[in-house]
Amino acid sequence: MTDVATEAFDLNGGEPLPAGHFYDVVDDLRAKHRWYWNQCGPGYWVLTRYQDIREAFQTPEIFSNESIVPVDPDPAYRFLPSLTDPPEHMKYRTPLLRWLSPKAVQGYMPFVRENAVALIDSFIASGRVEFLSGFAEILPARLLTFLLSLPVSEAEFFRDCALRLRDTVSRAGEQSTAVAAMGDLKSYFTEVVADHRRSPRDPATDFIASLLEARIDDRAFDDEEVLDTLMTLSFGSLDTTKSVMSWAMWHLATHQDDREWLVRDPGIIPSALEEILRAYPIVSMGRKVKQDVDFHGCPMKKGDMVMLNQYSANRDPEVFDDPRQVKLDRSPNRHVAFGSSEHRCAGSHLARAEIQVVIEEWHRRIPVYRVTEGTEVRATASHIESLDLSWS
Ligand code: HEM
Repeated sequence: MTDVATEAFDLNGGEPLPAGHFYDVVDDLRAKHRWYWNQCGPGYWVLTRYQDIREAFQTPEIFSNESIVPVDPDPAYRFLPSLTDPPEHMKYRTPLLRWLSPKAVQGYMPFVRENAVALIDSFIASGRVEFLSGFAEILPARLLTFLLSLPVSEAEFFRDCALRLRDTVSRAGEQSTAVAAMGDLKSYFTEVVADHRRSPRDPATDFIASLLEARIDDRAFDDEEVLDTLMTLSFGSLDTTKSVMSWAMWHLATHQDDREWLVRDPGIIPSALEEILRAYPIVSMGRKVKQDVDFHGCPMKKGDMVMLNQYSANRDPEVFDDPRQVKLDRSPNRHVAFGSSEHRCAGSHLARAEIQVVIEEWHRRIPVYRVTEGTEVRATASHIESLDLSWS
């Protein structure tokens, strides 16, 4: 790799920086390179421009979902439908869609609203909360139990697994905790699936029961397929939603004009959330190269991993005016925070609706707040580490 541009910046995790600084690094790397080889972990290519990234997302015959974690080219796990390519992919994705459609999602919102309000009420009088542990880790875990018709008391278990799972996709080489958490989650779901087999539920109203009836070609999903789907739903819904909520609250705590705008005019919340998703994207997907290819000059070899750097795409000045500026009413706003392919986030409607409810209910109750004096907000590529908020 002597004749190509190389860098060594940990885009998957790395040491936390003051919140927002990571994106400065990404902007610098885009300005320097259209693509480069990142020497972190086993090494992987990084595409930095919006158009190239969209093109790669939409070319699965070259950029395969066999692995989606740049530092993990040969995963020991099989998230479904994530780690499949066409034509298999749609067969695994379709059974999820009716549970995650805009209409279905509206049916979950009373639960979300009630729980969001209860959480806020539990700490509002104290005038202070660490937002991640006091709110953002809890609500998505409760919602997952609701979605899967599991007892809400299991939310603590999901929350704990999500915290331990994070290392799977972040720091290469520190995976033992994550592997144990994945094992715990899989054992848990194995029991749940066995229980569903013993005492069948109604597939019209129970997500897991419907997965047990899902068909692939001329046969039903086997238990492993059901388990690998449930793993994706857990893994895909917890840390992601938590992180976007945290970035939204950090931005609004530190940008008084935006916060006042949103309190004055809650109708701006859907557009504001799109802009938060654009400006603070929290995942960057990997793909595995299926054949030797010269991709806009980048000499990729079969088996190489590539990061389609969504952090970078969403801030590409060729596509977004003044990309470093957060504009709550930005339009158009064709960000790729949820991806840009057949694998586009299946839970995007749910994530959006949930976070919008949170923003609405929080600002109805706590319109003025700040990052607590004397606390520092640090973040890795995707995660705010902690966010201490205060109000009076
Ligand atoms: C704001 C929060 C979220 C973000 C930023 C996010 C982001 C993403 C991204 C970028 C992908 C695309 C992967 C690819 O191209 O390979 C994805 C896939 C997926 N997400 Fe999300 N996600 C979020 C929340 C959720 C939620 C709440 C759920 C479900 C309850 C969910 C379920 C899924 C599933 C099942 C896939 C796999 C889709 C497929 O491979 O066809 N996500 N997500």
